[in-house]
Amino acid sequence: MSKSNFINELVKNENQIGAIAPSSKYLAQKMLAKIDFSTDLNIVELGPGTGVFTSKLLKRMSPNSKLLSLEVNPYFASKIRKSVQDSRFQIRCDSAENINTVLKQTQFLKVDYIISSLPLAVLPIRLKLRIINECKLVLGTEGVFIQFQYSLNAKDLLYKKFSSVDITFTPLNLPPAFVYHCSF
Ligand SMILES: C[S@@+](CC[C@H](N)C(=O)[O-])C[C@H]1O[C@@H](n2cnc3c(N)ncnc32)[C@H](O)[C@@H]1O
Repeated sequence: MSKSNFINELVKNENQIGAIAPSSKYLAQKMLAKIDFSTDLNIVELGPGTGVFTSKLLKRMSPNSKLLSLEVNPYFASKIRKSVQDSRFQIRCDSAENINTVLKQTQFLKVDYIISSLPLAVLPIRLKLRIINECKLVLGTEGVFIQFQYSLNAKDLLYKKFSSVDITFTPLNLPPAFVYHCSF
């Protein structure tokens, strides 16, 4: 998907996208760096946008792993649905706050990782809290929540909700980004 498509959607939905460009491959590497792809995994992606992380995940996942992406923007969801043909992958055009309901419908029994690109800094606080609480329920005590942000704005919220939060940084993204690796 082209950068101009991304910019068109950004202009229409500024408060949902919260970015000026798709993420770089360097940020994608940082987001996925601590995932053990040698085992079969169930992964949920929140906010795939143009699919930068989606394709990298599918490249590294084992044949029996599964990926479910939730994208609230119908344009992005439909573009990815058309361009990614992989039996391990499903995409739903739905909001991340409905993650539990969607998982029940798709028979995902367990989630090992949530890879979130949600623009927490621009989402209303109540929505943000609902999403993080739902994600915690889905992950149980074993799962890991990985989120990127362009600031440390989400730090307090994530420290409050998870027992362990490890933050790394990459300058090689527009804008530079922090990756939060959160577990219990
Ligand atoms: C910062 S962009 C990231 C896009 C892509 N993952 C990347 O890194 O280039 C945030 C994405 O989250 C999506 N989004 C925002 N709120 C959402 C929600 N409540 N549920 C699902 N997706 C959401 C936006 O539509 C957008 O595609």
